[in-house]
Amino acid sequence: MAFRYISAGESHGPCLTVIVEGVPAGLPLSEDLIAADLARRQLKAGAGGRMDIETDRAEILSGVMAGRTTGAPIALRIANRDFAAWQGREVPAYTVARPGHADLAACVKYGFDDIRCALERSSARETACRVAVGAVARAFLGEFGITASSYVASLGAVPECPVDLDAALAFAATSPSRAPDQTAEDAYANAIHLARVQGETLGGRIVCVVRGLPVGLGSYVTPDRRLDARIGGAVLSVNAIKGVEFGQAFAATAVPGSRLHDPIVRDDAGHLVRPTNAAGGLEAGMTTGQPLVVRAAMKPIPTTLAPQRSVNLADGQPSATAYERSDTCPVPRACVVIESVILIELAAALCEKLGGDSLTEMKSRRLATPDDVRLSPEPKVFWPLPGHD
Ligand SMILES: Cc1cc2nc3c(=O)[nH]c(=O)nc-3n(C[C@H](O)[C@H](O)[C@H](O)COP(=O)(O)O)c2cc1C
Repeated sequence: MAFRYISAGESHGPCLTVIVEGVPAGLPLSEDLIAADLARRQLKAGAGGRMDIETDRAEILSGVMAGRTTGAPIALRIANRDFAAWQGREVPAYTVARPGHADLAACVKYGFDDIRCALERSSARETACRVAVGAVARAFLGEFGITASSYVASLGAVPECPVDLDAALAFAATSPSRAPDQTAEDAYANAIHLARVQGETLGGRIVCVVRGLPVGLGSYVTPDRRLDARIGGAVLSVNAIKGVEFGQAFAATAVPGSRLHDPIVRDDAGHLVRPTNAAGGLEAGMTTGQPLVVRAAMKPIPTTLAPQRSVNLADGQPSATAYERSDTCPVPRACVVIESVILIELAAALCEKLGGDSLTEMKSRRLATPDDVRLSPEPKVFWPLPGHD
């Protein structure tokens, strides 16, 4: 299987480790390249104090020689700088379960007395691993002209507004809160400031767009090959992501079918084109060659300075939740995590489509583009039209 990975490591352990397997040989890969994506996960807007401590860098331990992948498993190690501060420290047991975290179910399931046994791994610190793997997938897909970008479409009560997608993505690339424009940037900054003062947390919506995709990644032939299912699952696997949407899925429920679906139009050159992209780049689990547009809903994260009602699992008594250093709104930081998990699924699908052990071998194979779809001069009718025998 291509581009599969497994990570290990706790939030305050010595390091995170991730092994990614199934990357073709010959892909240029460096620690600097991975560091660029890891830095995007450390955006300051809405982040807590942890991001002041960490400067994430993935050390490449295997699978790369002379700056290129060898086809062997790639092991990456990301040090936790915060580990030093916790080493040798007497850390009291954490026994008040926080609503919205793994805490209560994990203690019941694994029989823990100390919630730290669960929170250390359920923490979103692990998403640094996925961003590192995502950087490898980004480098691989980039060889085929496939690129991903994203923006924060709404944050807290600041609503989502219609945007010009290209302009929004361009603005977001350098925006501290990954906002689509200056008005949103200012509104997001105010909302985060207010939430911090009130001891609150904020959620938001992230839109990720992938361009340059060929036609026909994924398939409808079995459920597990459907790319919508794979990408949907990957996005939902990110901590605090509670909803995922392709194109305009939720708004589309109110539109009559004949007006919703992206028309198939024959242009002057005989190509079949799709003037709209309501489907978001996927039909029947396959890429259409149009931009993939995925929207993810991130909940307001559970650790709030403002106390929440809970119970102390040590004595069963009602207790307010305690606060430990935490983000206010990690939605801007989560953008690159969403891009990463989507890129990983697309990289796997591309490997499945092309086969091959090396990048050279893969690049020698041709991918279908929308331009491949040509009609014969006389359109053929493959089935009887209404009123015909
Ligand atoms: C990049 C990122 C950073 C996060 N930071 C925090 C945080 O500082 N505090 C917190 O309570 N939750 C944070 N979360 C969310 C929790 O990890 C998540 O809500 C928790 O593990 C429970 O899982 P669930 O929300 O997916 O059900 C973060 C999530 C992401 C993606």
